[in-house]
Amino acid sequence: MSARLRLEIAGIPVADLIRDFGTPTYVYDGAVIAERIAQLSPFDVVRYAQKANSNLAVLDWCRRHGALVDAVSAGEIHRALAAGYEPTGDPPPIVYTADIFDADALELVVRHGIPVNCGSPDMIDQYGERMPGGELTLRVNPGFGHGHSQKTNTGGEQSKHGVWHETLGEALERAARHRLAVSGVHLHIGSGADLEHLALVVGAAEQLALEIGSSVHTISAGGGLPVPYRDGDPSMDVDAYFRLWDGTRKRLEERFGHEIRIEIEPGRFLVAEAGFLIAEIRAIKKMGPNTFYLVDAGFNTLARPVMYGAYHPMSIVPGDEGPRSEHDVVVGGPLCESGDIFTQEEGGYVRHERLPEARVGEHLVIEKAGAYGFVMSSNYNSKPQPAEVLVTEGKPHLARARQSAEDLIRGERLLPDGSS
Ligand code: LLP
Repeated sequence: MSARLRLEIAGIPVADLIRDFGTPTYVYDGAVIAERIAQLSPFDVVRYAQKANSNLAVLDWCRRHGALVDAVSAGEIHRALAAGYEPTGDPPPIVYTADIFDADALELVVRHGIPVNCGSPDMIDQYGERMPGGELTLRVNPGFGHGHSQKTNTGGEQSKHGVWHETLGEALERAARHRLAVSGVHLHIGSGADLEHLALVVGAAEQLALEIGSSVHTISAGGGLPVPYRDGDPSMDVDAYFRLWDGTRKRLEERFGHEIRIEIEPGRFLVAEAGFLIAEIRAIKKMGPNTFYLVDAGFNTLARPVMYGAYHPMSIVPGDEGPRSEHDVVVGGPLCESGDIFTQEEGGYVRHERLPEARVGEHLVIEKAGAYGFVMSSNYNSKPQPAEVLVTEGKPHLARARQSAEDLIRGERLLPDGSS
């Protein structure tokens, strides 16, 4: 059978998933998530960057498999608590990492005693005023970064993230003014980096820890671990990466005379390959040399191709067992916008994907879509957000119901009678 034909996901016939949950639907294979957490076990703490996929069942599953969690907003703290994470502990189950506190987030971290990782000097003052004599960690921008796209590069002068490395001294003074101990340093240079760039982070972290001094007990390597989206893309050498961090840890432990905890904070690495977006093919049309497969999911469902020109492998769920020839096709969605194309390069130029011949009413699966898929979905064109299903131990669990027509207008109000 062609590698581009798919009959099952996580051991379940795709036809059953479609029958039970409809389309478009995200399906996550819990076994893959558990395996990725286990792969990172050499690190003292695997702290899941839930921004990649914050469905409660996914968070609960990560928690059951030993991952702690990162939160970037009051909403993500709320999710972590709802998924069963304790607000405090050692190591802290939840850490708030951001470049600002909004009023809700500051209130929540203070109320629950959730540790904060500050990415702006102003956060230090705002936290210090509420929690004088406490502690925090600093997210530092080391002056360089790297990502799969310029939009996901979080280091260097063009990035808004972190305390600028040259102003670390000033940040430490601010912390001292509020008697705040700086107990850790955190670096995250971008999403979808490669081992070569990630290796540079290790040396920078060591320098920054030495500059902060022996109050440092934790170093976070951030996330950014790449995922092989395309056939032939290299897989992350986790052990080699860990060895670099372990070397740094040992040197710092010797210098400071106490243990240093090394945390890693992946989002994509844990969930991307676990996720499949199932959509129904609703129209097939030829436009000059291009054949379009139009499906019932669009960039309202999965935004990565239109945002970054991101590549996702695809497959067809055949309705019968007959032989299928393969063709170069363009895959698009239902939205009234030309950019609603899943097969596009950065800049919006369509590209072709070689897929088996398919018929209207058959299904298409967009693969490796578990990270930054549902969480970046929207209601554009008044389309409901899709359902999410988590498969564990061979059983599908409806982790989020598809939105209804009522959900789409919840909170909106008509004008009062008599307005003109
Ligand atoms: N830690 C921090 C502080 C971050 O800002 C991020 C991602 C992560 C960890 C997790 O990075 P990961 O391991 O997933 O690469 N929407 C984009 C990705 C944006 C990432 C934002 N921050 C995409 O779809 O590729």
